[in-house]
Amino acid sequence: MNAKILSSGHYLPKGTLTNDDLSKMVDTSDEWIRSRTGIGSRHMATDENTSDLAYHAAMDALNKGQIDPQSLDFIIVATITPDYVFPSVAAMLQKRLGMRQVYALDINAACTGFIYALENALGLFATGRYQRGLVIGAEVLTKIVDFTDRNTCVLFGDGAGAFVLEASDHPHFKAVDIHADGVVESLALEGYPLKENLLTPHGAWPFLQMQGKEVFRFAVDAVPKVIQNLLDQTGYTSEDIDAFVLHQANQRILDKAAKDFGIDSSKLVSTLEYTGNTSSASVPIAFGKALEQGMIKRGDKVVMVGFGGGLTWGGVLVEY
Ligand code: ACO
Repeated sequence: MNAKILSSGHYLPKGTLTNDDLSKMVDTSDEWIRSRTGIGSRHMATDENTSDLAYHAAMDALNKGQIDPQSLDFIIVATITPDYVFPSVAAMLQKRLGMRQVYALDINAACTGFIYALENALGLFATGRYQRGLVIGAEVLTKIVDFTDRNTCVLFGDGAGAFVLEASDHPHFKAVDIHADGVVESLALEGYPLKENLLTPHGAWPFLQMQGKEVFRFAVDAVPKVIQNLLDQTGYTSEDIDAFVLHQANQRILDKAAKDFGIDSSKLVSTLEYTGNTSSASVPIAFGKALEQGMIKRGDKVVMVGFGGGLTWGGVLVEY
């Protein structure tokens, strides 16, 4: 049993943070950020948490597909910024969306989270016990970013994206390629400390730490390998692919992949200019924006790729 994407939705919180805003907070400039990353602005949630963003993205997908939440058999949320350590965002949404008391699970694979969540959904459909489900990527990364660190605070933004999937005999998902390599030093957010290091109740919260250059080198190596693996599994060439929805971390990483495969810029989705890096949410947001712009149509072959903390990386090739 395979799966079909019935509908997709996304949500970006109203607040924005421009490069000029950031240049008043740290020693940076619009020119530096744009030329190194392609980012001009990003959305920032001030009074909404990850479950709120996820809820609005899910409702957008359900409304667009005219789908009753009672018909859903599972919900999976990819996130590294849940409202609570537990309960999961997925469990919170089960109630808020008015779903039956079904399977609800959060997944943490950092910026590859949405790709991992799709693979998990495919596994659920393969059991034959699930007919329809929600897969969401949602993040409020501005909660975990140190706004005194110019190396990281210019890169990230908030948002959420969602797919409704349904079991299908037709192999819409034609290839999947997923990997992990436990390298903590280059990209991490510390969890609770061991007892002897306990923070005071009002002690500092940990922030996201990143060795940008190392992650950049990893990404420009991993992304083309994933795309090639997906093409090899299907026998397609890059010309057969109608749209490439790659994790939105840095325009230079997207451009490198485009150059390697001779991808025309009209097939390469980029939301970086106004979203920045939204981790697990970036692929479904970019997919939704591409749908709105007519870059993706029913029947198109789409490559989606994620990469990030873990390290993790992976992709899917799907016929929409
Ligand atoms: N403004 C101005 N100067 C800056 C800024 C800034 N915002 N940030 C860094 N600099 C400085 C550095 O301090 C350094 O100065 P120095 O030479 O005096 O030491 C100089 O700019 C050059 O810095 P580099 O690190 O060489 O810049 P680089 O060209 O590598 O770009 C960047 C940095 C944008 C972070 C890039 O390395 C990158 O995109 N890395 C990948 C990030 C990524 O893909 N993350 C995805 C995963 S995220 C997740 O999983 C949660």
